[in-house]
Amino acid sequence: MAQRSVPFFNYPALFMQDETGLTDVVMDVLRRGAYILQKDLAEFETALATFTGAKHAIGVADGTNAMLLGLRALDLPPGSEVIIASHTYVATAAAAHFAGLTPVPVDCGSDHMIDPASVEPAITPRTRVIMPTQVNGRTSDMDAIGAIAKRHNLIVAEDAAQALGSKFKGKCAGTFGAFGTFSFYPAKLLGCFGDGGAVLTNDDAIAEKVRLHHDHGRNDDGIFVSWGTNSRLDNLQAAVLHYRLKSFDEAIARRRQIASHYQEQLGDISDLMLPPAPGSEPDHFDVFQNYEMEAGKRDALRDHLKANGIGTLVQWSGQPVHRIKALGLDRHLPNTDRLFQRCFMLPMHLALSDDDVAYICDTIRDFYRRNN
Ligand SMILES: Cc1ncc(COP(=O)(O)O)c(C=O)c1O
Repeated sequence: MAQRSVPFFNYPALFMQDETGLTDVVMDVLRRGAYILQKDLAEFETALATFTGAKHAIGVADGTNAMLLGLRALDLPPGSEVIIASHTYVATAAAAHFAGLTPVPVDCGSDHMIDPASVEPAITPRTRVIMPTQVNGRTSDMDAIGAIAKRHNLIVAEDAAQALGSKFKGKCAGTFGAFGTFSFYPAKLLGCFGDGGAVLTNDDAIAEKVRLHHDHGRNDDGIFVSWGTNSRLDNLQAAVLHYRLKSFDEAIARRRQIASHYQEQLGDISDLMLPPAPGSEPDHFDVFQNYEMEAGKRDALRDHLKANGIGTLVQWSGQPVHRIKALGLDRHLPNTDRLFQRCFMLPMHLALSDDDVAYICDTIRDFYRRNN
């Protein structure tokens, strides 16, 4: 087997794969001197709303601020509890915390998503929001979440940072609840060249509040009508995102194709638990932000892959939210604890060739030949 190098993510390729097109977009913005709250941002917001089927899309500084602004716009009593998955980035919990709310992490199911069965026992008289993370480019069972919310009169919101384009029963991630949020961090499904994020909502009042709060409380006439902050999406980033959104369907198709290749070449290895293959579950359209899988022999397998030039990663540096000591959110979440002894991610990005995928799979098969 010839040794090659397959990084977990290839940051230079984000630009190099389309240098001419992206240079044109950036140069056009720079020549116009169009930096803040300009037409490229408005056009991207419209395109994003159309793509997802949301009424409003508001570009903001990043995915963390998107959640913070969305939660603040709900105007909840301080200390209200927000149920989140523990299998999420610390940002989900932090957004609740900085909105004056209390994050309550719950367990995940076998598909790595928030487990609806663990949501209901976590509800208290202070619970106001259920905010699942649509992790890895998959949308949670939003029927089950919606039914619990309805029973207990709770608001649903989504951390869809990793799930632009993902669907549950044909409906886009980010559009199920009061609001949904995205991150445009470079390594995300739709990445820009820095930080970026967006809030989606169908609720005019929430949209209005997020718009005011993200630009110092200033309305369209330039009058300051409320408290606010600066959490705008740069116009330059918006222009890049709009350009990249035009070929986003192909990007998703390629990710799903890579996932199919992994499934075909690794599906018979009994020590591995792969994510559901594209098309294998009629309710889910997964877009594979990540290819997160489980392996009984995870650590030795990762070492073998590393020795053969292949980058892998355990999400959140191996720390689900309830295990981050500094936050004090520890709870008994056995499924998540078990998952984090087994889970890791293979490379999943658009600079990955079919030969790279074959090399990764051959290297994994080689490991199991030696270690079975
Ligand atoms: C699930 C999830 N939520 C929130 C965020 C935060 O997004 P950002 O880095 O744009 O603030 C991320 C980004 O890593 C994420 O993966």
